[in-house]
Amino acid sequence: MTHEEAQIRIDWLSREIERHNNLYYAEAAPQISDYEFDQLLSELQQLEMRYPDLAHPDSPTQRVGGAITKEFATVKHSTPMLSLANTYSEGEIRDFNQRIRKAVGQSPEYICELKYDGVAIGLRYSGGRLIQAVTRGDGTRGDDVTQNVKTIHSIPLRLKGDFPDEFEIRGEIFMPARSFENLNRQREIDGEPLFANPRNAAAGSLKLQDSAEVAHRKLDCFLYHLIGDLPFQNHYDNLMKAREWGFNIPLFIAKCQNIDDIMAFINEWDQERHNLPFDIDGVVIKINDYAVQEQLGFTAKSPRWAVAYKFKAERVATTLQSISFQVGRTGAVTPVANLEPVLLAGTTVKRASLHNADIIEQLAVKLGDRVYIEKGGEIIPKIVGVDFSARPSHAIDIHFPEFCPECNTQLTRNEGEAAWVCPNEDECPPQIKGKLEHFVSRKAMNIDSLGEGKTEILFEKGLVKNVADFYDLTFDKLIGLEKDYPAGDGQKARTVKFREKTVENILQAIDQSKQTPFSRVLFALGIRHVGETTAKKIVQAFGTIERLQVATVAELIVVDEIGEKIANSLTAWFARPEHKEMVERLRASGLKLNIEQNPAQKTGNKLEGNTFVVSGVFKQFSRDELKNLIEAHGGKNVSGVSAKTNYLIAGENMGPAKLEKANQLQIKIISEEEFLDLIN
Ligand code: IVH
Repeated sequence: MTHEEAQIRIDWLSREIERHNNLYYAEAAPQISDYEFDQLLSELQQLEMRYPDLAHPDSPTQRVGGAITKEFATVKHSTPMLSLANTYSEGEIRDFNQRIRKAVGQSPEYICELKYDGVAIGLRYSGGRLIQAVTRGDGTRGDDVTQNVKTIHSIPLRLKGDFPDEFEIRGEIFMPARSFENLNRQREIDGEPLFANPRNAAAGSLKLQDSAEVAHRKLDCFLYHLIGDLPFQNHYDNLMKAREWGFNIPLFIAKCQNIDDIMAFINEWDQERHNLPFDIDGVVIKINDYAVQEQLGFTAKSPRWAVAYKFKAERVATTLQSISFQVGRTGAVTPVANLEPVLLAGTTVKRASLHNADIIEQLAVKLGDRVYIEKGGEIIPKIVGVDFSARPSHAIDIHFPEFCPECNTQLTRNEGEAAWVCPNEDECPPQIKGKLEHFVSRKAMNIDSLGEGKTEILFEKGLVKNVADFYDLTFDKLIGLEKDYPAGDGQKARTVKFREKTVENILQAIDQSKQTPFSRVLFALGIRHVGETTAKKIVQAFGTIERLQVATVAELIVVDEIGEKIANSLTAWFARPEHKEMVERLRASGLKLNIEQNPAQKTGNKLEGNTFVVSGVFKQFSRDELKNLIEAHGGKNVSGVSAKTNYLIAGENMGPAKLEKANQLQIKIISEEEFLDLIN
């Protein structure tokens, strides 16, 4: 393929993929299968890798992410990003309408929209291409989060139709309920702190440095405000036009001529909001006509031509029947209130969170009390107060347990922390189960065929008590295992069975997990306070588990970002004989417990006769780990690209000179994944 042919193909693929993306996400009318779509995308990715100078900055491959933003640049908004005045009652909406009638001498046409509960964003387009995405920030200046925003499929990278050359469109980035539940479920397994609500999750995701991770978070965006030289002189017609250009303009919009129309819209959505697949916290009422908007203008904080109506957090009273004390993966004991079932915000609530012992004390709540529960932005409802006037004479004081409700070990509480913790981390059943689930999870050993349910079965059948036991599993031990799950919590009754194919997949995945790099093995062990990043830092500093095992607190805290808390946790973990034994068993099973080159560990000769250059930053492996893999499979590493080089493994941020030379010499440029395909 010549350079010109490549250019033509890249241009065609970019346009075609963007067109299908728009059909799928904005119009919900796909014309090709997911497989066909992936084929087009993968062809484009390969061409861009080979001809980096031809890749467009707004290429649809950007949606997969991969760009790393070290620090978000601060950008001044074209016009300030204001907020809205809030109202809470019909009376206040009537006052708003009166003020406007007085100022403009008539009752104008209003547009009612939903108030999406997410993060405000301004998108700038030039020549039909997305050129910049900026968060609200302080209203005058925000953060440039363009790379992250490009991963959101419903935001068009290129527009279609008859759009203005330069304009800005503003809207709300949010996390749909389904994405939020999946994210928190995974974070629970990975031992990461949960997001309290979808809004926080959306805000946190937009500020991630790795846009590939943002792409996983499955954000979405609704647009509701245009700025620039627009085709119509009113808000509604411009929004409808923007839909034709490819924007995700929500369908929940109504033209209203009077207060009754507005109140009907508000009342309908106050009920219906519980059936939406995303959060809203009110309704926004705007004047349609731009001439009237201009006449009214702005206050320092908000437009005079629009107002928000905020829904009240729903609150109901019910009886606190009992309290369960639940033990989590980290041993923290959480009190959960069992309530007389009651209807709240469209669902029947039977349980509410009480967080910790301090909250119980602050509420001064007793068993048998009438309590008020509320569902704010949070998913789990909470007890917000007690009706002391209704306290029954038989109300009973609540005693936080002194001993673990699962294993009867005396609970401890660290200074400055609210939670009571069960210290028996190796014997307490929910803690063991949580550690096993964490070990097999995606970010740890990634043994995906052993999803949550199956690990639980292995634990309950006594086949796996600690993570080293996974590597002693055999076909005979697994075949025929099964468990019945009764119907409940919205799920049908089901039976999980270990059939032949399942067992083969599990054993294969366990075997493959032995190739997991040391830093992820260390993270997978589930040592308290040792998260993904910390594990990488420790591994870089110590190199082998032998050195780490004997490291003192003083030696550990020298490492960047390792404080006393982490250092104490590590030394305490390695000091226990049962952990030493477990590490020895993992070593004997062939797991990687060092990052050092070890030529004795040759595992194959698939790469014999091939010379490699490894350049850039990678997702799964460090550069040294990739070099080790090359040698382990019979290949040779060299540092510079020459005519003798067979492959260049290209990561993020690699030097442009190397890439150019490799292109000139027509050397195969491959990604980390393609390299793994070569050896697997
Ligand atoms: S219009 C100049 N419309 O709510 C007026 N805002 O509390 C621009 N919001 O800053 C805002 N849904 O972040 C508008 N349909 C909607 C909205 C909406 C959510 C957010 C937005 C705004 C905040 C005000």
